[in-house]
Amino acid sequence: MNQADMGLIGLAVMGENLVLNMARHDYTVAVYNRTTARVDQFVSGRGASSRIIGTHTLQELVDQLKRPRRIMLMVRAGTAVDTVIDSLTPLLDEGDIIIDGGNSHYADTARRTTALANLGLLYVGTGVSGGEEGALHGPSIMPGGNPQAWPHVREILQAIAAKVDDGTPCCDWVGEGGAGHYVKMIHNGIEYGDMQMIGEAYWLLRNLLECSPADLSQVFADWNQGELNSYLIQITADILKTSDAQTGGPLIDVILDTAGQKGTGKWTGIEALQLGAPAPTLTEAVFARCLSALKEEREAAAAVLAGPSGRATAPGSPAAFVEDVRQALYAAKICSYAQGFQLLRMAAAENGWSLDFGGIALLWRGGCIIRAQFLGRIKAAYDDTPGLANLLLAPYFRDAIQAAQPAWRRVVATAAASGVPVPAFSSALAYYDGYRSARLPANLLQAQRDYFGAHQYERVDRPRGEFFHTNWTGRGGSTASTSYNQ
Ligand code: 6PG
Repeated sequence: MNQADMGLIGLAVMGENLVLNMARHDYTVAVYNRTTARVDQFVSGRGASSRIIGTHTLQELVDQLKRPRRIMLMVRAGTAVDTVIDSLTPLLDEGDIIIDGGNSHYADTARRTTALANLGLLYVGTGVSGGEEGALHGPSIMPGGNPQAWPHVREILQAIAAKVDDGTPCCDWVGEGGAGHYVKMIHNGIEYGDMQMIGEAYWLLRNLLECSPADLSQVFADWNQGELNSYLIQITADILKTSDAQTGGPLIDVILDTAGQKGTGKWTGIEALQLGAPAPTLTEAVFARCLSALKEEREAAAAVLAGPSGRATAPGSPAAFVEDVRQALYAAKICSYAQGFQLLRMAAAENGWSLDFGGIALLWRGGCIIRAQFLGRIKAAYDDTPGLANLLLAPYFRDAIQAAQPAWRRVVATAAASGVPVPAFSSALAYYDGYRSARLPANLLQAQRDYFGAHQYERVDRPRGEFFHTNWTGRGGSTASTSYNQ
C-alpha cells in the first residue's frame, strides 16, 4: 500500500507502453483498466514486473499511491475523460494530481483544470506524441494545466520523455489551462501538413517520372540524409520498400487512397479560422484528407472531368526534377511550420499564455511524430530573436527559401500544367507570396464591401483606424454599417 509513484488508467497500447517506460525508469506504477481482464492480461504478460501493480477498482488504485497521488489517464478523449474524472475525484484528497495524456481538446482541458482546482485537485493536460514506439522508448511530452502540479510531476515526466543529443528532455511545462493540449494540437496540425507534403512529393515523382516505389524509397532515404532529415521521411522510405504479403507487389499500391482522421488536424484548422490566423497549408492538409475520402465520387468524376491533354512528364532530367521536388518540399515545409508558430503566437496572445516558442521547438526535436533536425533551426531562430513575428523572417529560413524558391515555383507550375494536385505545396507558395506582398488586392475587396453594404474602408493617405464610406452609385445614403467580427 501507498508505494506506487504513479497510477495509470487506460491500458490501450499507449497506456501500456507508458507504464513499461515508467517501470524501466524505476518508478512503481499501479494500473487500472475498466475492462479488468486487460489488467490481468497485462500484469501477467508484458507488464510482469515488481514495479507494476494491477488493480481492479479505482479505490484499489488510489490506495496504492504515494501522496500527493499522481494519476495519469490514457483514455479516449471526450466524455470518457469526464466520466473517469467524476468517478475518481470523490476518492482523492486535496493536492492530488490528475494528468490527462490523451489528445483532448484544449478547451476541455482548460475547463477541467478550473473545475478540479475548485475541488482542491491539481489537473494537468498533456500532449504525448510519438505513437507506440515513442510511448515505450521516450515520447515528446507537452504538459500544461495547473502550474502547482508541475513540481510534483516534472521528474517522472522528464525521466520518461525522449532526450535530444545533449540530454535535454523533450518535456517541459508549456503553460496554464489548456496550453499543453493546444501545443499538441498544433503539433498534429503540422503533422498533417508534413504528411500531406510528403504525399505530394511522392505523387509528383510517381506520376511524372514513372518511378517504382522501390526507386522512391531510395529517393526518400537519400533526402533523409540532408536538411529534410526527419522521422516522417524515414518511415516513408521504409513504407515504400515494403512488399505486400499477399500479392508480393509494393504494399503501398494495394492500400486504398482514402485518408482517415481523428480530429486534431481539423481542430487546428478551426482554431486558425477562429483566431483569423493564416494557416492555409495546415488547413489544406485537412481538406486533402476530406477530398481523398470521397473515393466513389472521385472515381465517377475521373471518368467525366478532363485534365490537361497528353501524358504529364517532368521537365529536364529526372535527377533535376527529383532535386526540384526536394527543394519544393523543404520550402513548403518551412512555410507550414511558420504558419503553425504564427497560430501559436496568436493563440498565446488570445489566451494569456506566455509560450516559449524555442522551447516548444525543442519539445518537438525528439520523440514525436514531427521530430526533425530542422526543429533545432527553429529553436535557434527564436533564441536569436525571441519576439520573432514569423519564422520566414529568421535569416536562416529567409535564405533557405530564397535558395529553394526557383525550384519550388517550377514544381508548382509543373504540377498545375500536368494536372497533379499539390494543394499543400501550392498553398504554401501562395502564403509565402502573400506574406511578402506589401500590397494585396484587399483594397478591391474593401471597395466591394463598402459598395454593397456600406462597410467602410481605410485610406492609404490617412491614419489607420479612420474609416470612410463612398456613395458608389449615387443612390445609397450616407449611413455606414457598424464594424464587428463575430
Ligand atoms: C502523435 C500523433 C497521434 C495521433 C495519430 C492519429 O503525436 O503521436 O499525432 O497523437 O493521434 O497520429 O491522428 P489522425 O488519426 O488524426 O491522423
